[in-house]
Amino acid sequence: MPEDFRRIPTGVKGLDEMVNGGFPFPSVALVAGSAGTGKTTFAMEFLVEGAKRGEQGLFFTTLSEPTQWMLRYAGQFGFMDKDYFGEEIKYEDMGLLLQREGTEELLDFVDDKIAEIMPQRIVIDPITVVGAFFEEKYRLFLFELTNLLKNWQAVTLLTGEVNPGEPYPAEISYAVDSVVLLSMIEEEGTRRKFLEVLKMRGTDHTAGKQPVTITSEDGVVVLKSRF
Ligand SMILES: Nc1ncnc2c1ncn2[C@@H]1O[C@H](COP(=O)(O)OP(=O)(O)OP(=O)(O)O)[C@@H](O)[C@H]1O
Ligand SMILES: [Mg+2]
Repeated sequence: MPEDFRRIPTGVKGLDEMVNGGFPFPSVALVAGSAGTGKTTFAMEFLVEGAKRGEQGLFFTTLSEPTQWMLRYAGQFGFMDKDYFGEEIKYEDMGLLLQREGTEELLDFVDDKIAEIMPQRIVIDPITVVGAFFEEKYRLFLFELTNLLKNWQAVTLLTGEVNPGEPYPAEISYAVDSVVLLSMIEEEGTRRKFLEVLKMRGTDHTAGKQPVTITSEDGVVVLKSRF
């Protein structure tokens, strides 16, 4: 492994052990899953881990949710320190731009905010909403977005919503360095949650679905039972 191959810890308990210590730095990752599988929680754990290490984080929402709305949910978790918000973790809303502007304006907005804040960790949650607005321009947008992100010294997590039973958004997967899938399976009346690292470039990662749990204290946690 060349010495300049840096990694940053994911912030998700049990995941670093599966991926040689963390996400390659810089790189772009997709965290995909159906509703309620823990994508936003995963993204928050990732940003809080950076904040604890003195790194700057930048969270873009595509949903037009006010900061207070996000904080009301994220603040329920023990790992979350609300004082990070507005400081180590900056929050930006893309929702209005999405409704009113085109792909070029959105890409410029993302690039300008990154230049202003200079984060080491970036989240766009959820990226799949953009597809509903841009339709046939979506693929080109994804290509241009991931190229733009690769010019910065940062790890970016894009979260992707999939319908239950659908494995992952293929149009995003090919453009990113890593794909982490979150899933839920109903067994004997209880829903069990899983995490699978589908790909991570440059990384000898654990294969297959690993059981996870979401706890009030730590958020998404990979259970150790299978590795
Ligand atoms: N305090 C908590 N303690 C334990 N589990 C929680 C807690 N808060 C949320 N959860 C679990 O986490 C799930 C929500 O996670 P999250 O919002 O990160 O999912 P998501 O994949 O981003 O969902 P969406 O597709 O709706 O955006 C809830 O459905 C619940 O199962
Ligand atoms: Mg979410």
